[in-house]
Amino acid sequence: MAATGNGKKACVVGGSGFVASFLVKLLLDKGYSVNTTVRDPNNKNKVSHLEELKSSGDLKLFRADLTDEASFDAPISGCNYVFHVATPVNFASQDPENDMIKPAIQGVLNVLKACKKANVKRVVLTSSAAAVSANKLEGTGLVMDESNWTDVEFLSTEKPPTWGYLVSKTLAEKAAWKFAEENNIDLITIMPTLMSGVPLTSDIPSSMNLAMAPIMGNEFLIGALKGMQMISGSISITHVEDTCRAHIFLAEKETASGRYNCCGANTSLPKLAKFLKNRYPQYDVVTEFGDFPSKEKLILSSDKLVKEGFSFKYTIEDIYDQSIEYFKEKGLLKI
Ligand SMILES: NC(=O)c1ccc[n+]([C@@H]2O[C@H](COP(=O)([O-])OP(=O)(O)OC[C@H]3O[C@@H](n4cnc5c(N)ncnc54)[C@H](OP(=O)(O)O)[C@@H]3O)[C@@H](O)[C@H]2O)c1
Repeated sequence: MAATGNGKKACVVGGSGFVASFLVKLLLDKGYSVNTTVRDPNNKNKVSHLEELKSSGDLKLFRADLTDEASFDAPISGCNYVFHVATPVNFASQDPENDMIKPAIQGVLNVLKACKKANVKRVVLTSSAAAVSANKLEGTGLVMDESNWTDVEFLSTEKPPTWGYLVSKTLAEKAAWKFAEENNIDLITIMPTLMSGVPLTSDIPSSMNLAMAPIMGNEFLIGALKGMQMISGSISITHVEDTCRAHIFLAEKETASGRYNCCGANTSLPKLAKFLKNRYPQYDVVTEFGDFPSKEKLILSSDKLVKEGFSFKYTIEDIYDQSIEYFKEKGLLKI
């Protein structure tokens, strides 16, 4: 890996998480000095994988909470790049407004204020496909690019399952753009899809459990995948390493600007199930979905990212081969 980070310092906000810890690893591999923030540096279950990464390079952990503006000053000071990855996630919340929407917006603004004070060269915000494609459009064959925004009014009125998370990601990204424009901050936002791969975290990431639901036969999570296709228009999936590579690529690419979709593969739940049944016949993958739509409503286009010069390393076959191996290592799959 090219040591493009030599002599440069980056801050990753929310280092304990699935995506952020992988990003920390890639930054260290590239020779960056890395500051990362966690809510509780004493919680071994949440930081042991970061402690292990200290042997790979110059990594420092800081305590910070999205709701505490001053907590970001120390970790962000002296950094060339800041990657704001953390977000409050609570799908079971009875109060999404206070559990996800308000803290996500406040968190983005607190991080950006610290970036402004520290005169950071570029900020990369991890938004989500959830901020792009949830809408009430009908039909199939739609293409969602960076000009598309999730329809917050529709979600807030209809309140479909997970609406609070979708709204929190959309409004947090919009707040980031407004603040960056008003304060002359060089901001890039990246909208990844559902991610799987090989995590560094001690716990299995919730998005990997979701992606693996058809293999594991988890009916509740298969229901969640159905909901995802109905609300967001597709089952779109990306390898976590590709998403993290895209974060660093966009930070380093001088000409990059604006929003970037980051999607490895677009499909529907019935098509995904058929693919999994054919490739891994040893598992009891259900492929009958009655009158549930067999085709995705839309695809998320990563053309802008690819035209910028980025290439995805992993196919959907790679993503599932690696995820299945990981589940076997964890003892969750026997064959
Ligand atoms: N995974 C996916 O499939 C996917 C898809 C699209 C977009 N994304 C986006 O990618 C980012 C990372 O997702 P992930 O899957 O890695 O999630 P994750 O593993 O659940 O990590 C979430 C992180 O946010 C931190 N966090 C939550 N509330 C916080 C607060 N009040 N203050 C400080 N930190 C807080 C958590 O810290 P604690 O460890 O202290 O809880 C954790 O480090 C998120 O922005 C998410 O929206 C993820």
